[in-house]
Amino acid sequence: MKNLEIKDIEILIQKTFEAQKNSYAPYSMFNVGASVLCENGKIYTGCNIENASYPAGICAERVAYCNAISNGEKQFVACCITCSGDNYAYPCGICRQFMSEFDKNTKIIVAKSQNDYKIFDLAELLPHGFEL
Ligand code: THU
Repeated sequence: MKNLEIKDIEILIQKTFEAQKNSYAPYSMFNVGASVLCENGKIYTGCNIENASYPAGICAERVAYCNAISNGEKQFVACCITCSGDNYAYPCGICRQFMSEFDKNTKIIVAKSQNDYKIFDLAELLPHGFEL
């Protein structure tokens, strides 16, 4: 598994904030960006996309993952998340479960700014996730 370098983290945070600008969140006004670094070094991004029929909306993390998976990726080194306001954007339970399908040790980076971030192992954020 590729090691997560400081340079990777810097690029991921930058791309995540860029993706957050595309967030479509007219209902919650809460903008989220996500990016995922694949084993081959490629990065895919996503943002949250809401809908008038609220449950039809989707989180930024799953958009980033779906973007990557639909381009043939299956191995994810790290996922970075940013959001509007001065908070760390921890992934919701559904997104944790969605990500754990692929690798329980993917690093989760929650970033408030380019140099204010925390890193977790997905397994720490989702102990005992559902498996078939
Ligand atoms: N949201 C995400 O994009 N990711 C999460 O992990 C939690 C929540 C979005 C969904 C919705 O558009 C907005 O944040 C408010 O819940």
